[in-house]
Amino acid sequence: MKINKSNMNWHEYKIIKEERQKLNGHKSAVLWFTGLSGSGKSTLSVEVEKVLHNRGILTYILDGDNIRHGINKNLGFSPKDRTENIRRIGEISKLMVDAGVVTLVACISPYYKDRKIVRELLNENEFVEIYVKCSLDECENRDPKGLYKKARAGEIKGFTGIDSPYEEPVTPEIIVETDKQSLEESLNQVISYLEQKNILS
Ligand code: ADX
Repeated sequence: MKINKSNMNWHEYKIIKEERQKLNGHKSAVLWFTGLSGSGKSTLSVEVEKVLHNRGILTYILDGDNIRHGINKNLGFSPKDRTENIRRIGEISKLMVDAGVVTLVACISPYYKDRKIVRELLNENEFVEIYVKCSLDECENRDPKGLYKKARAGEIKGFTGIDSPYEEPVTPEIIVETDKQSLEESLNQVISYLEQKNILS
């Protein structure tokens, strides 16, 4: 379908992001957790959200697995579909940040260029890339959903880390190594970063 952009307008609102942030008493940003399946992205994001919520911060989690049950249920795992998955999650994140919410995204987001596009959608300091680093061996050992086993058996094709690539972040804001450190250590690392960058105030 061809869309004629010259027929589309942008409406200005009377309330802007900074005013919503002021009302909320804190900044808004995206905490983007990227890493292999089973690396601990969802687990860590849930813990970070709990701490933030208990401190009175408005939060919301966009988890790849969950988003694929709704707005992205028409997408699979081909490179093209993964790119579209990240594009949509990125655009939703931008809206959430505009709404004044600290948005936690947990999705593999295996391609460097897709994450870069999302980073560029947002202002500086609004995109916090958190590389949830864990060796493939350890992820495969954990195999919480039994998917690595299926991928090794050839029952799932194009599984990240097995026969589909994961491109590591080059300069993420935070790296947590979930095969070397405890969940509490990773949690503290993320919270300290947010405090340092004055995102929570
Ligand atoms: S992404 O690559 O497009 O960012 P996303 O995070 O949304 O992926 O979804 C990943 C989840 O989908 C995995 O945690 C796993 O539960 C499931 N999954 C199903 N098929 C695949 C596959 N081929 N590769 C990776 N994950 C898959």
